[in-house]
Amino acid sequence: MKLVYILAVGALAGCTAPEPPSGAQLFAENCTACHGVDGAGTGWVAAGLKRKPANLTTLSARNGGAFPMERVLSTIDGFHRNPKFETAMPEFGSWFEGPMDQIELDGVMTPVPQPLLAVAEYLQTLQVE
Ligand code: HEC
Repeated sequence: MKLVYILAVGALAGCTAPEPPSGAQLFAENCTACHGVDGAGTGWVAAGLKRKPANLTTLSARNGGAFPMERVLSTIDGFHRNPKFETAMPEFGSWFEGPMDQIELDGVMTPVPQPLLAVAEYLQTLQVE
């Protein structure tokens, strides 16, 4: 009887094991308060910040049409930021840890945690011309 119970619980856990959150979900949960639901920088706490949250829909446009993947990753992560970067934005490195994917950055294969990459790839989908 006990064994049946354990098997049943195991099966249930297997069915309901959570999918890793998508980039869109991670963005909605962690970024929209400042950057806005559309990423344009007008979230509900933006007005109270000394420096306005960046418009995340113009990252490519402001970079000659190419999505600045490396800068975006390291800005979110906190690994490398412009020295004058507004400290209001949390460093998400330890929140977005996870299994590593290898992506090419400036011609070098670089390991990037999947949640961090998922958010950056989601931002890529928000870019306007
Ligand atoms: C507490 C407010 C806040 C939160 C939360 C926040 N940010 Fe920011 N973010 C800012 C501010 C303010 C800036 C502009 C900083 C500056 O220019 O000094 C910024 C800048 C950025 C930039 C740099 C844009 C550029 O033009 O180079 C990126 C990328 C970014 N945020 C992504 C994110 C992502 C992704 C999240 C969620 C995981 C997030 N931010 C959460 C406030 C926030």
